[in-house]
Amino acid sequence: MKALQLRRTKRKWKDDDLSIQEISNLLWAACGQTMLGTPKSKSRRTVPSGRNSQTIKVYIALCTGLYEYNEKKHLLILKKEMDIREHLTNQKMMKNMPVGLIYVSDYSKLKGYVGTDDSRKLFVAGTETGFISQNVYLYCASANLNTAVIGLVNREKLHNIMALNDFENIIYTQAVGKSSAP
Ligand SMILES: Cc1cc2nc3c(=O)[nH]c(=O)nc-3n(C[C@H](O)[C@H](O)[C@H](O)COP(=O)(O)O)c2cc1C
Repeated sequence: MKALQLRRTKRKWKDDDLSIQEISNLLWAACGQTMLGTPKSKSRRTVPSGRNSQTIKVYIALCTGLYEYNEKKHLLILKKEMDIREHLTNQKMMKNMPVGLIYVSDYSKLKGYVGTDDSRKLFVAGTETGFISQNVYLYCASANLNTAVIGLVNREKLHNIMALNDFENIIYTQAVGKSSAP
């Protein structure tokens, strides 16, 4: 109840990095694995997804580089040894984000939706992203972190910088940093 009450979009933060534990918690809240898969049933995450497609991949941009979150092993996979955080928003005031999350839909995981138009796929990807980003908001509210979801992003440019495939689609990004409030 307290986290729900405190959830807020906040666009300012301290310059400090998040601790490894905070990053670990943040990603687990986002879409951590909560149930192992079986031969008959795919694993589950902290968020629901259409037909359990789990189409959203979460990338995290830190000062050390760009990483993909692998929730099955709860680890980060280095994708690019480059600081791309300033490209996660068009808004100047947020370009100094300590941590950036990028929600990318992998349309190749939406095979169950073959024959349906792209708006249906975007609906499935967008709702899944909404659940993920709300989990991030609630974890941040509980951990004295500030966060903002960002739709104002140059997706084409970021897609190129991240060297994503054609079947991958950036939904939106989210900035996170430590609050300066006590
Ligand atoms: C899909 C989506 C896109 C958003 N894009 C931006 C954005 O680009 N920049 C920004 O500063 N806030 C953005 N926001 C945050 C909203 O401005 C914010 O949620 C709204 O003003 C309500 O404030 P609250 O989150 O504190 O309740 C976005 C929110 C959503 C759900």
